[in-house]
Amino acid sequence: MMHCPQNSWKLGEHLVTDENLFNKRRSFIKLGAATVVANSAVIDLLAKESSSKLQPTKKELITSYNNFYEFTTDKKKVKSLVHTFEPSPWKIEITGLVKKDLTLDLEDLLKFENEERIYRFRCVEGWAMVVPWRGFALAELIKKAQPLKSAKYIRFETLYDPAQFPDQDRGFFSTIDYPYVEGLRMDEAMHELSFLATGLYGKDLPKQNGAPIRLVVPWKYGFKSIKSIAKIEFTEKQPLGSWEKLSPEEYGFYANVNPHVDHPRWSQKRERLLGDFFKQDTQMFNGYEAEVAHLYKHMNLKKFF
Ligand code: MTE
Repeated sequence: MMHCPQNSWKLGEHLVTDENLFNKRRSFIKLGAATVVANSAVIDLLAKESSSKLQPTKKELITSYNNFYEFTTDKKKVKSLVHTFEPSPWKIEITGLVKKDLTLDLEDLLKFENEERIYRFRCVEGWAMVVPWRGFALAELIKKAQPLKSAKYIRFETLYDPAQFPDQDRGFFSTIDYPYVEGLRMDEAMHELSFLATGLYGKDLPKQNGAPIRLVVPWKYGFKSIKSIAKIEFTEKQPLGSWEKLSPEEYGFYANVNPHVDHPRWSQKRERLLGDFFKQDTQMFNGYEAEVAHLYKHMNLKKFF
């Protein structure tokens, strides 16, 4: 693993876990709501302390509260339904505006040098977590794919196989149109934070979290982080993602985490960390403003949401 102290997201879990703070917060939460009101100064203190370090969410929570519509919309049930899914063997087809079409299998994916990154993850629904991912920069895969200059966007597709994914098998009655599609602008995709995860907590990615390989774009709402990627295409035109297609008024192409742009049906100002009782403020670009704001310098983020 690369050790680069100026980037908190590159630190290994052992370096950011402050057990002392963790225990303090747990015992504090146990005190209950009545005590909490009287102790708002303590809340502020704890918030300040915890904001300087990323405390990974418990593995149990990350792997048992999932959005993976190919199985069910019930987040707590995904884990119990993934046995129909077999992510090995696997291949990713890379096509479109590239020098030459390319197919990668699991062995090829293992050849990319792995690193661990601890990222905040914020779902558009208002819940959040901190995940110690393992994987490699999306830019590394793009370099291997050798896109042409004319490639302006990258489009991802999840595997389509109704025999493995029960909601794909519902045809007309399925929850969304499959395969699940997402996309990024090329400069977003090449940004060093854009990551392809093959594992979490040091182990292979569980099926419910998008095995064997999923996208992680930490400054965008979680729906951009497409799971179980089977196809990648380089395009000139902006790809139409599954959620934008389903409800363009609610889900834009950019989907940057932004406390100042509400979802039409709910506020985005606050968020709840999985496992926490209290809500916390949503951060601009999910806390990665210093790293990514320049990508959107001349854009009206209310229009390009
Ligand atoms: N990818 C696919 N193929 N299908 C999905 O339903 N849900 C998205 C995203 N990627 C989804 C997907 C949404 S809405 C979120 S919030 C995250 O996956 C959830 O990732 P997690 O279950 O690992 O927390």
